[in-house]
Amino acid sequence: MNYATKRSKALYQRALRVLVEGGSSPSRGPANYGEHPIFLERGQGAYVYDADGNRYVDWMMAYGALPLGHAHPAVAAAIEEAAKAGTLFAAATEVEVEVAEMLAAVIPGAERVRFANTGTEAAMAAIRLARGYTGRAKFIKFEGHYHGWYDDFLLNAHPQPIASLGHRRDPIRIPDSSGLNRRALEDTIVVPWNDLQAVARALEDHHGQVAAVITEGVMGNMGVIPPADGFLAGLRALTLEHDVLLIMDETVTGFRVAPGGCQELFGVTADIATFGKALGAGLPVAAFTGKAEIMEALAWGGVLHYGTQNASRAGLFATRASLRELLRDDGAAFTRMRVLAQALSDGLRQLFGAMGVPAIVQHVGPMLQIFFTDRPAIRDYRDFCAHVDREKYRRFVWALFRHGVYMTPSAALHSIVTVAHTQEHVEETLRAARRALGEMEDE
Ligand SMILES: Cc1ncc(COP(=O)(O)O)c(C=O)c1O
Repeated sequence: MNYATKRSKALYQRALRVLVEGGSSPSRGPANYGEHPIFLERGQGAYVYDADGNRYVDWMMAYGALPLGHAHPAVAAAIEEAAKAGTLFAAATEVEVEVAEMLAAVIPGAERVRFANTGTEAAMAAIRLARGYTGRAKFIKFEGHYHGWYDDFLLNAHPQPIASLGHRRDPIRIPDSSGLNRRALEDTIVVPWNDLQAVARALEDHHGQVAAVITEGVMGNMGVIPPADGFLAGLRALTLEHDVLLIMDETVTGFRVAPGGCQELFGVTADIATFGKALGAGLPVAAFTGKAEIMEALAWGGVLHYGTQNASRAGLFATRASLRELLRDDGAAFTRMRVLAQALSDGLRQLFGAMGVPAIVQHVGPMLQIFFTDRPAIRDYRDFCAHVDREKYRRFVWALFRHGVYMTPSAALHSIVTVAHTQEHVEETLRAARRALGEMEDE
């Protein structure tokens, strides 16, 4: 085999002298990649190329931020156009109105739109808005859900040993980082997902103090875990009953599972929804949307949310070009991506079955994840913590690297099908997976 990572290794050694753990996010460092990361240099369509010249079919796609794949000509042209006539004014622009209109047309409940830059920012703003609008301080988040790295959210978001989690009815609150504002954390209530009784109990226990419940529509930070039948609708009913806002975090699912995200797919309209990743087609564009009455609380003198880079012209040019591609022909791209994800999932399942590998695949729309587990399904955070072999997944992904396929080495994240992928990429991946699994057996 002709797979070398000499330059990646050398770059890593150089990086360690100026960058903590060699990069700008812990998810790119040793916690996920082990000995050294792969330094990527170029992307084209469904492929990425690394510093040693290796080519990979890319299923990570910048954690789903590239719904059209790498360097899509329409997006590249839009960025070039913006670069030539001004990337940022921090002032009103027509493209801002146009993209807001595009979002309002496809996202359920998007009577008003506000742009930001990252999913974290959108979630921070959504929580402040919910608190300001309701005059209440607390909010409910779910075990294993990640809403960005803001203090209030960064607890019970990472996999932990199952014995450290406490009882389901009363989860131990586990900060995922040092340095968090403890007072902020006191207002965050953590409950298990896919468990309406737990939510009802928390709403009753904290009656009159809860501003909002925030949820991912599909759990995308513990692999891929779909909502139980009726769970999101039940959440909507409970929040209405208790006069509490529902925030749908669509950072992962927005412009991926359906044109209108999980709100469309599961027929549930939240009060506020947040978007990032796929929205910007590779540039930092995020947004939050919601009912006019709530969103109007953002007006001057109410709940403040600022940002020099908000609605940057370059970002929104890329967004507009990407949305035109994604939404054309009645959203046919979403059907194609879903069908391809099904083909990849079925192919992997057959392979695991034929080779006797204890592994399953879970997928929703274009999002899919492989779990090395002896369980028939992974239904929530506790299942993931107790029953998923994350180290085996990392070894599998490194073996895939050697055969020209790029997935995230973290079992807690997932793979994503884009417009750039085809059946050929699926087949190339299945061949690589067969070889990778064979090598793991020999180890
Ligand atoms: C569901 C969810 N919300 C929010 C975020 C934060 O987004 P960003 O990394 O753009 O700040 C993420 C990132 O992975 C996410 O998965």
